[in-house]
Amino acid sequence: MIAMFDSGLGGLSVWQAVSAALPQWPITYLADQAFCPYGQRSREEIAERSVKICRWLAEEGASILVVACNTATTAAIADVRRELAIPVVGIEPAIKPAAAMSRTGRIAVLATEYTLASERVKTLLDAHAGDVEVLRRPGAGWVEQVEAGDLSSDATRELVRAAVAPLLEQNIDHIALGCTHYPFLAPLIRELTGDGIRLYDPAEAIARRVESLLDEQGLQPPAPRRHRFITTDPDASGMSQRLPALIGQPYVVESLRLQ
Ligand code: DGL
Repeated sequence: MIAMFDSGLGGLSVWQAVSAALPQWPITYLADQAFCPYGQRSREEIAERSVKICRWLAEEGASILVVACNTATTAAIADVRRELAIPVVGIEPAIKPAAAMSRTGRIAVLATEYTLASERVKTLLDAHAGDVEVLRRPGAGWVEQVEAGDLSSDATRELVRAAVAPLLEQNIDHIALGCTHYPFLAPLIRELTGDGIRLYDPAEAIARRVESLLDEQGLQPPAPRRHRFITTDPDASGMSQRLPALIGQPYVVESLRLQ
């Protein structure tokens, strides 16, 4: 199976892309909701959680692991790779394609405070931004709204407006979505940007990467295809109620105590 994890429900935006690209493969998705959000935690805390989760997923029989969280990729992908013998795919803000396509010479990246302040983003900017100016903004409160399943209330709309409206006066033409929770708020972002600004969600690129690694390794999907959804929240009912709105179908959610 393909294993995937995030601090919470955001990685389901990656789940959608991977599950559509690889219709034969079962996916086990783990949401670390007991520790969500990661964006305000220390590197050590995020790395410790990530390694623990990945070890557990590998023991469950993962053929490949997707870190469906920019923050965990930034903080912990090296630790995770050191621990696991299977291929590990991480996710990072699509600064490279957004900068390459920019005509106005200005783009924005929206991500958690942790990701925005990271060396990883600094390296991406140094390597790929060139002369393009990259405005960095956190989506304050966005992760919490997605976790609560609130994708369209006035309160959510206001949080989206607070982060995006100031960018609209800056002549940007691309926005890289650098947190896997944010694509669920894309309809609200588009209400503000219209079609003139392109949103970059790297989920489909991740799905292509997973596909090519599985091909390279000659791995075949186990039958039958059975997806699993797991939360570290002792109460699985929250996640199970949110799944239809986020991925279009209900599933049973298991609760896992991981200490
Ligand atoms: N979904 C995660 C990301 O891609 C982070 C959310 C959080 O702060 O936990 O960065």
